[in-house]
Amino acid sequence: MEKRADTILVTGGAGFIGSNFILHWLANESANVVNLDKLTYAGNPANLLSASSDRRYKFLQGDICDRDLIAELLITHRPRAIVHFAAESHVDRSIHGPDDFIRTNVNGTFSLLEEAREYWAGLTGAEKDAFRFLHVSTDEVYGSLGPEDAAFTESTRYSPNSPYSASKAASDHLVRAYFHTYGLPVLTTNCSNNYGPFQFPEKLIPLVILHAIGGKPIPVYGDGQNVRDWLFVTDHCEAIRSVLTRGKGGETYNIGGRNEVKNLDVVNSICSALDELRPNDPVMPHAKLITFVTDRPGHDRRYAMNATKIESELGWKPRETFETGIRKTILWYLENDAWIQGVTTGAYRQWMATQYSL
Ligand code: NAD
Ligand code: DAU
Repeated sequence: MEKRADTILVTGGAGFIGSNFILHWLANESANVVNLDKLTYAGNPANLLSASSDRRYKFLQGDICDRDLIAELLITHRPRAIVHFAAESHVDRSIHGPDDFIRTNVNGTFSLLEEAREYWAGLTGAEKDAFRFLHVSTDEVYGSLGPEDAAFTESTRYSPNSPYSASKAASDHLVRAYFHTYGLPVLTTNCSNNYGPFQFPEKLIPLVILHAIGGKPIPVYGDGQNVRDWLFVTDHCEAIRSVLTRGKGGETYNIGGRNEVKNLDVVNSICSALDELRPNDPVMPHAKLITFVTDRPGHDRRYAMNATKIESELGWKPRETFETGIRKTILWYLENDAWIQGVTTGAYRQWMATQYSL
């Protein structure tokens, strides 16, 4: 019998984490990658320019809600795994317009699960045993912590507070149900805030870098004392690879950097690094640009992840500290002006006007 190509299907691979994951995968694994992405405002094929000449990489533009397309793709490529990143991911956008979040994050995940179930049911022997559906989710499903609360574990009760986190929580529950009801070999990862190259500048860290170097106000929500647990994106990608290879079907794994930082401290550390790297920018010191603005409605105060399970069971540990990761990230944005010009288009400027009246 003809040996099948070893392939994984990635959804949402043209976004921030998905594109980092594909580049990381191609550098470390031999299997082919098929990337299904709708190319919403957040999807950018330019993130994958360096993979475009790799014969193992194939891009397909399409929607995870399109069940016929997914069915056809699974039959054609016969992947051994689906790594599911595709989502609407920005909390502020979910507050302005939740519809797309329900459509993609809930209905899209449901479509993918249904087609994966059908495909998996048709597999036999080693192919069936090897198949995995890895669902990439977030720490936000657990809600908000007080200053003294213990970090989230895999058994923390779900308590999502935004339309975004509620839609991710719904998708996590569907994934769980497909394991318990149908035996579909699923894995779920819940990760804390990522940062690094290719992050769309609607999110805090790239937005602060671009505003600081451009001499624009740096918007800090509320009192700036909200805490996030920051993880460099490549560490997240490595964690996903560990879970895919060694994770136990039906289990969930929390991923975090043990890097809890207050937003205002994140902003100040970026400003100080830029003072040294860019002394001739229009406004110096960069921290003069910090502007406190109206808080995000329902703004979660603190997230923190207990990553003991993935560390002890799968041997994963982050390589970057916040200090090393933020330095790499700032340098990447300073060295990639063409990428920045490509993403800060009319649609981006319109979002800035809607959200910040800028
Ligand atoms: P992103 O917004 O940068 O990218 C999302 C990608 O999904 C884009 O390429 C977009 O085009 C694609 N997409 C959206 N709707 C689609 C659809 N209907 N069909 C096919 N493709 C579609 O997001 P990200 O920050 O890279 O996050 C990726 C995943 O990781 C998400 O599921 C998110 O919930 C999760 N996550 C993100 C973080 C973080 O800090 N960014 C942390 C933990 C978990
Ligand atoms: O925790 C994981 C989550 O992290 C992911 O699931 C989400 O997809 C991802 O977007 C991120 O959500 P946050 O809301 O935490 O990230 P964001 O970068 O939007 O905001 C980080 C913090 O900074 C948050 O407390 C809000 C604040 N903030 C954000 C922006 C965009 C500001 O103070 N000013 C801003 O302009």
